Amino acid sequence: MGEVDPAFIQEPEHRPRISYIEGKGVPLIDLSPILSSSNVSAIEFEGLVKEVGDACKEWGFFQVINHGVPLEMREKIDGASRKFFAQSLEDKRKVSRNEKEVSGYYDTEHTKNVRDWKEVFDFTIEEPTIVPASHEPDDTELTEWNNLWPEYPPDLREICQEYSQEMVKLGYKLMELIALSLGLPADRFHGFFKDQTSFIRLNHYPPCPTPELALGVGRHKDGGALTILAQDDVGGLEVKRKTDGEWVRVKPTPDAYIINVGDIIQVWSNDRYESVEHRVMVNSEKERFSLPFFFNPAHYTMVKPLEELTNEQNPAKYRAYNWGKFITNRKRSNFQKLNVENLQIYHFRISE
Ligand code: OGA
Ligand code: NI
Repeated sequence: MGEVDPAFIQEPEHRPRISYIEGKGVPLIDLSPILSSSNVSAIEFEGLVKEVGDACKEWGFFQVINHGVPLEMREKIDGASRKFFAQSLEDKRKVSRNEKEVSGYYDTEHTKNVRDWKEVFDFTIEEPTIVPASHEPDDTELTEWNNLWPEYPPDLREICQEYSQEMVKLGYKLMELIALSLGLPADRFHGFFKDQTSFIRLNHYPPCPTPELALGVGRHKDGGALTILAQDDVGGLEVKRKTDGEWVRVKPTPDAYIINVGDIIQVWSNDRYESVEHRVMVNSEKERFSLPFFFNPAHYTMVKPLEELTNEQNPAKYRAYNWGKFITNRKRSNFQKLNVENLQIYHFRISE
């Protein structure tokens, strides 16, 4: 990426602090009770549901261990990602994202109109993924997103597809725990993910000569339902702690996944669980790799607070919005630097 282009420079109030707080970190949850369903006591299971509920409420973020995703699969996709990004820019650009295909390679993403110090490769879980043809509210035409698979490394496609299945499985399990923690039937959310628009991103954060000025990803909340992130051992992910607004590091835990509540869960739960701001710091010596899975519903989903969670005392805090239009709007603004703020869920908030 060469010398630091002003496009990467954060406003002073959003610059990272180089010495960071090691304070109380996000909760670590052991998912083993859901792996061995046969001999788990009801008390143990309820304990897990409560832990998940408390973490969603107090942090919006947690890490999970004993999640059932084979370590070998994670190592395989991590290896393939490193090989892909080690190629020349020219080779990576052979699978560049474009106006029509939003998946593929991309190194000019902007978060809140500041460029991120990273390069990414995106692919969707469903092939093809059906979405609206445009973000225009009255346009009812649909289109397909297709993945752009690179030639190198040759096994990347198969590895990514295998890994996707594991992420979807874990995604459903976590949504079951979240549903139970909200007092809903375990499968309450399942239907939303038929025809899902989920995708996985391979992130590469190269070393940055000025880590005090730029960010790997600027502060943001994830717009989808749930994110399952694998990070390597370098560290750099920071979460805005709900209790005091401090940025705290998510310490890398070997073989753990980081889970965070996205905006859609915030709306479904009518603000019982809030999606939390996070960002990524870069450093001048080490490159960093991460792999988020964004678990997202079908494009035709009208996102709104669940009826079971609203009543006269607690009326719906959001108007329904169409998820397909929301993502096509977002994809458009992430692709081109626009002089307007990204679409956010608070734009659908009902004023009190
Ligand atoms: C993201 C994100 C965190 C990371 O891509 O939305 O928050 O550690 N990534 O890469
Ligand atoms: Ni994120």
